Amino acid sequence: MFEPKTHKVLKSVKKRALIDNETYLDWYQQSTKNPEKFWKKHGKRIDWFKPYTKVKNTSFTGDVLIKWYEDGVTNVSYNCIDRHLKKRGDQVAIIWEGDNPYEDKKVTYNELYEQVCRLANVMKSNGVKKGDRVTIYMPMILEAAYAMLACARIGAIHSIVFGGFSPDALAGRIVDCNSTFIITADEGLRGGRVVPLKANTDKAVEHAARDGVEVRNVLVVRRTHGKVDWYEDRDIDYDEAMRLAKPKCPPAKMKAEDPLFILYTSGSTGKPKGVLHTTGGYLVYASMTHEYVFDYHPGDIYWCSADIGWVTGHSYIVYGPLANGATTLMFEGVPNYPTPARFWEVCDKHQVNIFYTAPTAIRALMGAGDSHVTSTSRKSLRTLGSVGEPINPEAWEWYYNIVGEGKCPIVDTWWQTETGGIMITPLPGATDLKPGSATRPFFGVRPQIVDGEGEVLEGAVDGNLCIVDSWPGQMRTVYGDHERFILTYFSTYKGKYFTGDGCRRDEDGYYWITGRVDDVINVSGHRMGTAEVESALVSHDSVSEAAVVGYPHDLKGQGIYCYVTPMSGVEASDDLRKELVKHVREEIGPIATPDKIQFAPGLPKTRSGKIMRRILRKIAENEFSSLGDTSTLADPTVVDDLIENRQNKK
Ligand code: WT7
Repeated sequence: MFEPKTHKVLKSVKKRALIDNETYLDWYQQSTKNPEKFWKKHGKRIDWFKPYTKVKNTSFTGDVLIKWYEDGVTNVSYNCIDRHLKKRGDQVAIIWEGDNPYEDKKVTYNELYEQVCRLANVMKSNGVKKGDRVTIYMPMILEAAYAMLACARIGAIHSIVFGGFSPDALAGRIVDCNSTFIITADEGLRGGRVVPLKANTDKAVEHAARDGVEVRNVLVVRRTHGKVDWYEDRDIDYDEAMRLAKPKCPPAKMKAEDPLFILYTSGSTGKPKGVLHTTGGYLVYASMTHEYVFDYHPGDIYWCSADIGWVTGHSYIVYGPLANGATTLMFEGVPNYPTPARFWEVCDKHQVNIFYTAPTAIRALMGAGDSHVTSTSRKSLRTLGSVGEPINPEAWEWYYNIVGEGKCPIVDTWWQTETGGIMITPLPGATDLKPGSATRPFFGVRPQIVDGEGEVLEGAVDGNLCIVDSWPGQMRTVYGDHERFILTYFSTYKGKYFTGDGCRRDEDGYYWITGRVDDVINVSGHRMGTAEVESALVSHDSVSEAAVVGYPHDLKGQGIYCYVTPMSGVEASDDLRKELVKHVREEIGPIATPDKIQFAPGLPKTRSGKIMRRILRKIAENEFSSLGDTSTLADPTVVDDLIENRQNKK
């Protein structure tokens, strides 16, 4: 098997690093041999109003109950702000870099404290209480971070919906968690283009009302000052409300297992699941991984280029870094605006030491040419990170050699919305790097590779990735549907958390994530359920049936390939194709834009009517010479038509 060259830990890196290989091996052993003792010690990295006496109370069988530090009392906002004020009140907490390269702002911990307190008071005075769900639908502006922390301060549960989702997708998420308070902005700004967030929110609120959820208030930040509709009894102007609010608000006393946030994510079936994370264990895990994985030292400038609409933004823009008293950079824009040099120009401008981004961005920038990189200095950079999808060795080497000039270790971090924090990853001073491998498990993480029957595979093998014991950052349930939680994650392989990913382990014990083995596809690091795209397609009047699969895409990692059977009498035209693309974007959002639509008079089905996706995947991949056994198909001739009319001809 092809194995790229190993990059040994550099001496210069090892010298300053928090964790060397001996320490890693030692701590890892302790953490898995006696997790109780290990996490008892590391739970103290955050402040507790009332210390915990119980550490771990978890079970992956039966009702699957997961509790960490259950009798401890704390507050996430207190840990991210108040406890730093004495020592670093005047240190910059958040650097905000606008979409426009001439716009930026810096917020100190003292200022963050006041803004979060005021906003917490605005929410309280509008009736938001502990345990209420608050939906945040915002661009990457400072107020989005204030909103998260203000929720945490008063014990409200936030549910952030990525600004690229459509009004209908937003409505579905509002309804699912019965959220009656929304925070949004007039418009977002990305790559010079305007995103109509308030108009989308208005539509979503209307839609939610039809589904029985009456949104009480919409709090609106003026970002662009563009014109928006205004509903006097419902809408609240952010600036006005903030001016009137008191600048102090005591942090609510939260039990470790009180919910912190819900984040919707796609699964292989049905509508998106509300992944629920709680307070204590989550913060311990997010802050600890942030410190050790990025080898964060006090004073470092840290930048994660994700959006707060994804879990990466939750754990590694806001909660992890701020709990560690770091300076975290928040970027409103996109990698290639105004030019593909933007990332590196921002690194120079703010003297970024640690930079964390996604392979899809790296591939796109690699395609734009080295000159956009080499025109910048990047001297401040020390550690580089990657997340969201497998990184191909070619992109890895480019990131390492061109961006990092061979001086910065790359941490390829594997994790999921469900895991709350990084699970498999190198540590800069400890781990020799192999391009394309997420390398070894973080402390307390016990991966296992199993075959289709659940047989545990030892040594160098290929199979499905499970985790066999709990870690503090793990999701606790699917909001409002614990049965679905058990069914989705703990039923495929009894007593184990099943990740949905395929994985290979090599002879050095390194893990290589090979991608999803379920009906989830990963488009530019964004997770998409094929079932969601299918239901968007069949909701169109002209569509009788649809099947969606992923296929390898040079930039996006995976593209969205749709097989569509039109209603009888409907012409399979290019116009219909355009119309369907538009329809899916409206139903879900631009991230679900179909890349290929193939019209198919029939789909390959078994005699019992089950669509054989294996065949559809092969044809989408342009690998139709190895279709395997098609004799069980009800009508084997449909396959010839599918091959003939494939849309990915090379
Ligand atoms: C899925 C989770 C975790 C934050 C962003 C995505 C894939 C994630 C890697 C990586 C290979 C990766 C997996 C996983 N994935 N990181 N370093 N190497 N694959 O979170 O939306 O919950 O998606 O992303 O397939 O299951 P998510």
